[in-house]
Amino acid sequence: MDFGMKNRMSRLFKKDGHCFFMPIDHGYFQGPTTCLEKPAETIKPILKYSDALFVTRGVLRASIDTSIDIPIILRVSGGTSMAGKDLAHEGLTTSIEEIIRLNASAVGVSIFVGSDYEHETLMNLSKIINDCEDYGIPVMAVTAVGREVGKMEPRYLALSCRIAAELGARVVKTYWCEKDFDKVVSGCPVPVVMAGGPKCETEKEVFDFVYDGMTKGSVGINLGRNIWQNPNPAAVAKALYAIVHEKATSKEAFEIFNEEKSRQAKKK
Ligand code: 5RP
Repeated sequence: MDFGMKNRMSRLFKKDGHCFFMPIDHGYFQGPTTCLEKPAETIKPILKYSDALFVTRGVLRASIDTSIDIPIILRVSGGTSMAGKDLAHEGLTTSIEEIIRLNASAVGVSIFVGSDYEHETLMNLSKIINDCEDYGIPVMAVTAVGREVGKMEPRYLALSCRIAAELGARVVKTYWCEKDFDKVVSGCPVPVVMAGGPKCETEKEVFDFVYDGMTKGSVGINLGRNIWQNPNPAAVAKALYAIVHEKATSKEAFEIFNEEKSRQAKKK
């Protein structure tokens, strides 16, 4: 690995090898998602817990201060919407020149294994990896399921993660699953980061699954809605940071969440 790739990877993953990525890319197919109507406002209370921001070029230009000192993971696939026929029908949205111009530390691209667009999205991944490797820019593959949340089972996730890694992704983002998540991780030769999915019923559920995933070999999280759609986003982020970087258990994270929530309430 050359200096550029190594250096970018070391900015994304902290010295403990773990990461807390903050995705705010949802608008690229969901429009002004609840609590992400004004991305600059959304990230204010949680930025200090984020190791990197996952964002489209549009939001990067319009909403992120150019003096930001945390790495940017640029979302470079898209071209579909919640109102359209098939969320899997994505293409590449951003050229390598633009990725470099925007000073991205990494890029993220979705693949839809098993969908009608499996081949196209896997070739999107391969194309962007070919372009980015030339410039030492890591590619994070996002194993997406579109509306088919039933696909979040271990055999499917293991298949998607392994294919992404075989095609050259340096990092793979996938969903946590209750059974055999350790097999999903161990079958993937590159670091696996957990996505969140739609908001859980309780904070405890979030802490439980993140803790479980970390103990089963995931290197970190890329959680959006379960943080910034929570009425206390900073408290959730602080608690998750403790699991990811400070070896907190789920129970300890819940205590940190409650303490931070009360502290914030007193300030009001
Ligand atoms: C959207 C994404 C998001 O980055 C990913 O889904 C994580 O966000 P959330 O935790 O809200 O699911 O890739 O396409």
